[in-house]
Amino acid sequence: MKKRIVSTLLCAAMAASLFAGCGSTASTGSAGSTSSAAGSSSSAAASSSSSGAAADTTSSGSDTASASVQASSGTASAGGQTIGISMPTKSLERWNRDGSYLEQQFEKAGYKVELTYSDNKSAQQNNDIEGLIADKVDLLVVAAIDGEALSQVLNEAKDAGIPVISYDRLIMNTDAISYYVSFDNYTVGKLQGQFVVDQLDLDNAGDKTYNIEFTAGDPADNNATYFFNGAMDVLKPYIDKGTLKVPSGQTEFDQVATAQWDTSTAMKRFQNILGSYYSDGTQLDAALCSNDSTALGVTQAIESDYAGDNKVIITGQDGDEANLANIVDGKQTMTVYKAVANEAVVTLDLAEAMLAGEKPDDSLISKSGWDFDCSYDTSSYDNGTGVIPSYLLVPTVVTKDNMKKELVDPGYYTQDSDGYLHPVG
Ligand code: BGC
Repeated sequence: MKKRIVSTLLCAAMAASLFAGCGSTASTGSAGSTSSAAGSSSSAAASSSSSGAAADTTSSGSDTASASVQASSGTASAGGQTIGISMPTKSLERWNRDGSYLEQQFEKAGYKVELTYSDNKSAQQNNDIEGLIADKVDLLVVAAIDGEALSQVLNEAKDAGIPVISYDRLIMNTDAISYYVSFDNYTVGKLQGQFVVDQLDLDNAGDKTYNIEFTAGDPADNNATYFFNGAMDVLKPYIDKGTLKVPSGQTEFDQVATAQWDTSTAMKRFQNILGSYYSDGTQLDAALCSNDSTALGVTQAIESDYAGDNKVIITGQDGDEANLANIVDGKQTMTVYKAVANEAVVTLDLAEAMLAGEKPDDSLISKSGWDFDCSYDTSSYDNGTGVIPSYLLVPTVVTKDNMKKELVDPGYYTQDSDGYLHPVG
């Protein structure tokens, strides 16, 4: 296992890419580039609770945050092979980080990289992937905009002999996918739900009742239902018991979903809810939001349209910069952080094994010696053509109290003198 310090080169690369604008962009790195490896040791502080995702094997991760950054076990001997990376959009913060980390990892290992962003437009992602196939990339890493809309183009990849890793979001209805790399999505939702249970001390509520509203993600994103179901599975018993009430009555995924995870869509829906069900002084106690972009909209709606003066518990996911600022300011209560630097490390090591003609399985975890938790799962993610073998990393709850330990100390973010966090780069 090799480790290295977060380099300033990575910072510069990420700074350049963050919010560099929308639209389809491709960048090509050259083999043997001097860019740094990304990836980092992660704390294993996240829940170890079981999830809907039944794991076969779990690596032992380090419990301690450290300033060191883990490089993949990959060697710089890629022989000029090219990796095509298709990311959904630059307008949702995390994908900028994913793209940068992946590019850095693969370049460091000696690969050329073609990286595209498709402006959250599914047709454009199809075109971008067509382009990568036409460029004869050796392997594709794809985070889908619409998980149902890539079967045809990925079948073309299969016909061209290009293996595909489904990155973070499961791509449905195609057997062109060899593997899925993600976080334990169901656990993300469970952590959010359990956070609400703990904050409101629902197990000791007695006759007290609390009001909650839900905001979920994009129906086109296979992850969104996992997040929602994870949270709902934790909270439903309290709803059934009457301890938790949902004044809007909106408890089905389809009622609370947010197309494209869009902040202003989430804000408008929540303003309507506040206007319709809370303008009489009804107190809102918790807003379960599946991620940070939707939490941002909900927070804005509460600021502008909520009459109450209690602090509403608001959940999120990703550790987006604006949301971390809201956590510091006490406007958002938590986020579930997913160390996407480590997701890139897993993706590289998996890709290397695939390109070497191996059939990676749980042994990849021990061979790679990652300094973070990851499980190999062969039962949870069926994309309609069968179960896709999955490498699942572990998410972490971040609050104002532990953000320094979980985000700053490992080197993912810096903290300024006012306490605000800024992504490295
Ligand atoms: C990712 C989340 C992210 C959401 C919106 C999901 O597929 O897993 O981390 O918040 O997309 O970008």
